[in-house]
Amino acid sequence: MDADNLFKQSIENKENFWKEQAKEIQWFEFPEKILSKDKNEYPQWYADGKLNICHLCIDQHIEDGFGDQTAIIYDSPVTDQKKTYTFNQAKEEISKLAGGLASLGLKKGDTAVIYMPMIPQTLFAMLACARIGVIHNVVFGGFAPHELVVRIDDCKPKALITATAGIEIARRIPYLPLVEKAIELAQDKVDNIIVYNRKLADNRHEMFEGLIDYEELVQKSEPADCVSVESTHPLYLLYTSGTTGKPKGIARDTGGYATALKFSMKYIYGVEPGETYWAASDFGWAVGHSFSVYGPLINRNTTIIFEGKPIMTPDAGTFWRIISEYKVSVMFTAPTAIRAIKKEDPNGELVKKYDLTHFKKQFLAGERCDVATLDWFAEHIGVPAIDHWWQTESGWPMLGLMTFDADYQIKRASAGKPVPGYDIRIFDENGLELDPHHEGYLVIRLPLPPGALLGIWNDHERFQSSYLSQYKGYYFSGDGAIQDEDGYIFITGRVDDVINVAGHRLSTSEMEEIVSSHPDVAECAVVGIDDELRGQVPFATVVLKNGSAITEEEIEKDIIRMVREKIGAVAFLKNAMVVKRLPKTRSGKILRKLIRTLLDGKDFQVPSTIDDEKIIEEIQEKINEYRA
Ligand code: COA
Ligand code: AMP
Repeated sequence: MDADNLFKQSIENKENFWKEQAKEIQWFEFPEKILSKDKNEYPQWYADGKLNICHLCIDQHIEDGFGDQTAIIYDSPVTDQKKTYTFNQAKEEISKLAGGLASLGLKKGDTAVIYMPMIPQTLFAMLACARIGVIHNVVFGGFAPHELVVRIDDCKPKALITATAGIEIARRIPYLPLVEKAIELAQDKVDNIIVYNRKLADNRHEMFEGLIDYEELVQKSEPADCVSVESTHPLYLLYTSGTTGKPKGIARDTGGYATALKFSMKYIYGVEPGETYWAASDFGWAVGHSFSVYGPLINRNTTIIFEGKPIMTPDAGTFWRIISEYKVSVMFTAPTAIRAIKKEDPNGELVKKYDLTHFKKQFLAGERCDVATLDWFAEHIGVPAIDHWWQTESGWPMLGLMTFDADYQIKRASAGKPVPGYDIRIFDENGLELDPHHEGYLVIRLPLPPGALLGIWNDHERFQSSYLSQYKGYYFSGDGAIQDEDGYIFITGRVDDVINVAGHRLSTSEMEEIVSSHPDVAECAVVGIDDELRGQVPFATVVLKNGSAITEEEIEKDIIRMVREKIGAVAFLKNAMVVKRLPKTRSGKILRKLIRTLLDGKDFQVPSTIDDEKIIEEIQEKINEYRA
């Protein structure tokens, strides 16, 4: 069946289509009900099916005779370590860790927070939780304690699994002081704090009382078997930025997700079991969950855990070294990583050092990819660079190309066509479908296919208001887009307060809340401005309270520090400019888009709703002064 037919079937005969796809994975009990409704009348998949995703990722392959195949490669230029694990070895570690978690009283339906760097123990912890039905929540290691607190308070974990430190190039990031602070601030106490001691050369223990040693726990525990869970049992929660300061706990199911990932590996990535597949994303992001852990392992691919950066660890040839050394056939990264490499190695000199003959396809997502980066890639790497679009919410691609079919055609600057299962439309504000070449809101007709979010953890109302209430019967993606006459879609960017900084999804509302809490700030607007390397970076414009004596340098320093302390260094807020007033509409709404356009130095139209046009000149003068 070709890609167009596959798509057609997935929309016109969805139940049958997804029933057939579900047969590609092994179930303890194959579902009778393919598509039904949950208690909130929201569509759900395979409700009466039973399975275990750790079984699919590990045990299944051992049963099929592949126990000695390498499942995981850990490559850490920052600690100068390399290690591989076969499926047999992974099972031993994961099942004993699962047994250890069970011995601490964790059971199906409990939650556990995982706050760890890019080491194999993070993947083991995720799969150990899945093995016994514990719902995991991985928190990106670059987030500050406050972000950890928000998640602990929302999902009330029975355990927090962490490590002594992460490493940022040459800088050691001790995790335990951050964890200790988070525990102090959280409303709920976490009963079990499990720490993997990395025993780094400069390991200053910083252990505090009551910690459980990860290795001891594994050593002394009996292996646990995979428990059977319902298809709709949440596998994990992954918090992501929304339009308010509080992150949304995206809940993912088990059976639909496993089916969708198996489908993705075969049809979208076109990768065969046994090959090496590498998604260079942190475990803390959706890509890390779906395509560093679950997708490749379900498909019996060897996956790579890379602890380093595309540049400086030790140079901009690292990616090509890994691709060559481990015969990676398909790779996935964010465009920002390629931009960083391109900047360091504009003529591709480092590429020439490596044999890339096994490398077939490069996938890109997480943010818009500029054409100059695609051109550099084509000139120096010589394999197709394929843009595709998805979100934490979907858990797998929604736009892309079906590369299993060798006839796929790339259109530069487009993120591809709707993936089977995603009935994508471009709407105007009133919900009318737009003709090709008109920019509008990207929406998806319900039901979303298997694997997409179950909802927001314990907050159905927010799920409704964030995604389902804008257009009845459709999921609102928050992205703007244009479709062309051939069905290719071009993403034009977020239509809300979400920004993408170096492939990291962040909320400007959350930053505004932090900036506004400064005692000298009367009001503020944080917007994402263009950045050559990171795609976007946040920029704060603030109005000081009357009578405030703080200097502009002082307030900028304070704001940068506060955002770094609360969200983490990844927020990358490095600029704050004081203005007399913010541009607003006559009804008092801040005109953030206008501020962004002025900061980007782009042409703009004076909004018809602006309260006072003179403010534009005022802000422009201030920008010139600030940049001087
Ligand atoms: N723990 C602690 N701190 C972290 C961190 C982590 N896991 N990750 C990033 N940081 C810190 C960095 O040290 C840096 O701190 P600094 O401002 O004190 O120097 C800050 O956060 C910004 O980090 P980053 O955006 O990663 O900048 P960088 O200059 O170190 O690297 C890139 C730039 C482009 C190489 C890097 O951002 C990258 O590889 N991005 C790809 C992201 C990705 O894969 N996203 C997944 C979606 S597919
Ligand atoms: P995240 O949930 O972190 O995966 O971020 C999802 C958001 O990243 C989307 O809503 C888009 O705004 C953006 N995004 C992801 N992939 C792409 C892409 N290929 N092109 C443009 N934007 C993208």
